[in-house]
Amino acid sequence: METGPNKVIDESRQGEAVVMERENSGNGKKLYLESYGCQMNFSDSEVVASIMNENGYSTTRDIEEADIVLINTCSIRDNAETRVRNRLTEFKKKKEDNPELVVGILGCMAERLKKSLLEEEKLVDLVAGPDAYRDLPNLVEEVGTGQKAVNVLLSRDETYADISPVRLDQGGITAFVTIMRGCDNMCSFCVVPFTRGRERSRDPYTIVQECKDLYNLGYREVTLLGQNVDSYRWNLTSKGEIKDEKLPTTNFAQLMEMVALVSPDLRVRFSTSHPKDMTDDVLEIMAKYENICPYIHLPVQSGNTDVLYRMNRGYSREWYLQRIEAIKKIVPDCAISTDVITGFCGETEEEHKETMSLMELVKYDFAYMFKYSERPKTLAERRFEDDIPEDIKGRRLTEIIDLQMKHSLNSNQQQIGKIQKVLIEGPSKRSEDQLCGRNGRNSVVVFDKKDLEKGQYVMVKITDCTSATLFGEVIEKCEPAPSILS
Ligand code: SAH
Ligand code: SF4
Ligand code: F3S
Repeated sequence: METGPNKVIDESRQGEAVVMERENSGNGKKLYLESYGCQMNFSDSEVVASIMNENGYSTTRDIEEADIVLINTCSIRDNAETRVRNRLTEFKKKKEDNPELVVGILGCMAERLKKSLLEEEKLVDLVAGPDAYRDLPNLVEEVGTGQKAVNVLLSRDETYADISPVRLDQGGITAFVTIMRGCDNMCSFCVVPFTRGRERSRDPYTIVQECKDLYNLGYREVTLLGQNVDSYRWNLTSKGEIKDEKLPTTNFAQLMEMVALVSPDLRVRFSTSHPKDMTDDVLEIMAKYENICPYIHLPVQSGNTDVLYRMNRGYSREWYLQRIEAIKKIVPDCAISTDVITGFCGETEEEHKETMSLMELVKYDFAYMFKYSERPKTLAERRFEDDIPEDIKGRRLTEIIDLQMKHSLNSNQQQIGKIQKVLIEGPSKRSEDQLCGRNGRNSVVVFDKKDLEKGQYVMVKITDCTSATLFGEVIEKCEPAPSILS
């Protein structure tokens, strides 16, 4: 992706780079914002851009003209942090040429390392954790008075619900909408509960309003984001009790229905589902609405029950497979993707083989696969030894990647001959005469441009594929639904 003040590198899953410009006559100062990490970080950068915009900063994609550089960071694996450190060293050199330049670190690494980035490492002037973005203008002002500024307080209720994010890809078709923040799950390998704090859900009415606004701006797809969307709850306690009897309650299935009703032409996706919490209610709502895409990302992490227990995932191999059965039964032809970690503490060859056998059973359409990277303070770091040698982690990773490539190709080959509804997202990477979009199952489809434009829905007959892409011919344009105004 090459649109939108930002560069977004998705360390957690696929790589993405996003750069945008937004004018604001305000104080004439320019912000350069670079993002790493997951879609939630990307979505947070839009909140940051909005807060800075309100305070007179315009965003630039040219770092040379920036007065302030902010880097929104990820801590999920060690290599994510290494990348950011290298970038910060480059920024430090820029600061030697231009001592007025303010450099700030945001996001998960800021939260994890707190003041040490200012004091011991002297890499930045400003540190702001994920719940401290409203304080950014004050922090920048503090730096202006010659102090080092830091706010890494985590909140129990901040959801930035009232902030309308500055979309980093103007004229875009697909948008991310954060519905909840934080995570209460404590998977033993994972740093997110420490960097993002306690789980909290956002007011459903602000979510629906944001989706309506996006539709009216020309967006045709929203992805509802949370670390565990299945535990979304509004006016409900974690035990399911009503907090305030006078107010309505909302769970994830109900929220998804509310968003699906915004317009039949607004596609709805979501990420990430958690196997221990995904209910049949959610699957039934998916099956009920054509505009909720038949695609679920259901991270398994491992196919072995003992490893899952050590990972503190809260489900067994059998439970996971039973959830897969439910998806296949209730949402026919639903695409399924996953995340897998190889070489977690104590993983034996047998346990690794069970991950491969689970992959053979499920036949994922797509997967993100990682070598285990020990993270400071996590349960796994405290309880277990990171005892699988790098070369074995690597070999196991190669084995599962090879297997997945086979399954992805197979899955795409099965689409050949089918006619699928595709939302056009823009020009294809390879040729100006071709466009690309995605089908409901989240596969990229490439086809001839003709007189078609981004934002339209078309019916495409799939004619060919690779393991990553489908190719097809447009056989019909779909009639647009009436527009909505409020
Ligand atoms: N909330 C999501 C995942 C967020 S992190 C969920 O529960 O599925 C995205 C992925 O990064 C995880 O699914 C996991 O596969 C991977 N990951 C997280 N911590 C990791 C670590 N310490 N080492 C390697 N991969 C990790
Ligand atoms: Fe991390 Fe587990 Fe929470 Fe996902 S559900 S963010 S893997 S602790
Ligand atoms: Fe990374 Fe933080 Fe997301 S650790 S994956 S940016 S929640």
